[in-house]
Amino acid sequence: MNAGKLDFKDRMLSLGLARVSEAAAIATASLIGRGNEKAADQAAVNAMRSELNKLDISGIVVIGEGERDEAPMLFIGEEVGTGNGPGVDIALDPLEGTTLTAKDMPNALTVIAMGPRGSMLHAPDVYMDKLAIGPGFSPDTVSLEMSPSERIAAVAKAKKCSAKEITVCILERPRHESMIEEVRGTGACIRLITDGDVAGVMHCAEPELTGIDIYMGSGGAPEGVLAAGALKCMGGQIFGRLLFRNHKERQRAAKAGIKDLNKIYARDDMVRQEVIFAATGVTSGSILPSIKREVGYFTTETLLMRSKTGSVRRMIYRTPVKQAMY
Ligand code: FBP
Repeated sequence: MNAGKLDFKDRMLSLGLARVSEAAAIATASLIGRGNEKAADQAAVNAMRSELNKLDISGIVVIGEGERDEAPMLFIGEEVGTGNGPGVDIALDPLEGTTLTAKDMPNALTVIAMGPRGSMLHAPDVYMDKLAIGPGFSPDTVSLEMSPSERIAAVAKAKKCSAKEITVCILERPRHESMIEEVRGTGACIRLITDGDVAGVMHCAEPELTGIDIYMGSGGAPEGVLAAGALKCMGGQIFGRLLFRNHKERQRAAKAGIKDLNKIYARDDMVRQEVIFAATGVTSGSILPSIKREVGYFTTETLLMRSKTGSVRRMIYRTPVKQAMY
C-alpha cells in the first residue's frame, strides 16, 4: 500500500488519538505524587506506544522521546501504527511535566498531535525562545524582536486595557530573571510555572478560563511544536526561535534538516498542514482536571481538537480499573 497517497482522515482518526492520550494518562495514575518521575514517564510511554500501534496509520514519530540512541521507545523516526493507513507525522510527549506528576503539582498532561506526512517541523531537542498570545489579535501585534515590556504594551493596547490588567505566564528559571524583572516593571501580573510550557502556551488560547494573556520565555523546542499544534486548533499565535548552547546542539539541528539557525518560526511554519491534537489531564490544572480515582474506576478528561474545523471537544472517559491496566 502506498501510504503517502492515502488521505489523512483526520475526522476518523481523532477518536483514536483521544484513546492514545487517555491510555497514557491512565497509565500514570498510580504514580501521581509518588516522587518517581522516570517510572511515571515510562508508564506513559509504554501505554502511548501500545495504543498508537493499534491505529490504522503509517506513522512516523517526528517529535518524540529523543534520538534513537537515547530513547528505546517512541524515538524520533520510529514507525508506529499498523501500517495500513495514511502516512502521518506524529508529535508526542507521553508525559508533559514529569516532575509535576511526581510531585502532584498542576498542569501535567499527556499530549499528542498528528498531521499528514511532512506537516511538522522536525525540531531538534534544544531550547526555543517562545512567545504566544491567544486568538483575536492581528498578526503583527507582537513579535520575538520586541522587548518583554513592548509585548505587554502591544497586547494591552489591542485589548484596550492597561498593562496592570495583563497576565504573563513564564517558566520560573534563573535564565528568565531579567525578563521577570522587566515584566514586573510594567505592573503586569506574572503567573510563574515550575514546568509544563505546552500547557503554559495553551493557556493563552482560553484567557477567560485561565486568566493568561501572554506566554513568553525559553523551553524545549519539541514542546514548542506541540504547542503550535494546539494553537492551530484552538486559535492563537506562537513564535519560536531555536536557541543553541554549543556545537553539538547546532549539529543536532543540522541532522534534523534545519538550515537557517536564526529563523523565527510562526505557528504555521511549525505545523504546516491540518492537524489533530489530543491532551489528557494528569494532574489538575486550569485547562484540564486531573485523573479521578474512585473505587473501581478511573475518569479522565481529554481535549480533542481538529484544526480543519476548529472543533474543540472535551471528552470525559470512565473506565473500570482492571480494563485500564496496560
Ligand atoms: P518534562 O516533562 O520532560 O520534564 O519537561 C517539562 C518542561 O518544563 C517543558 O514543559 C519545558 O519545555 C522544559 O521542561 C523546560 O526545560 P528546563 O527544565 O530545562 O528549563
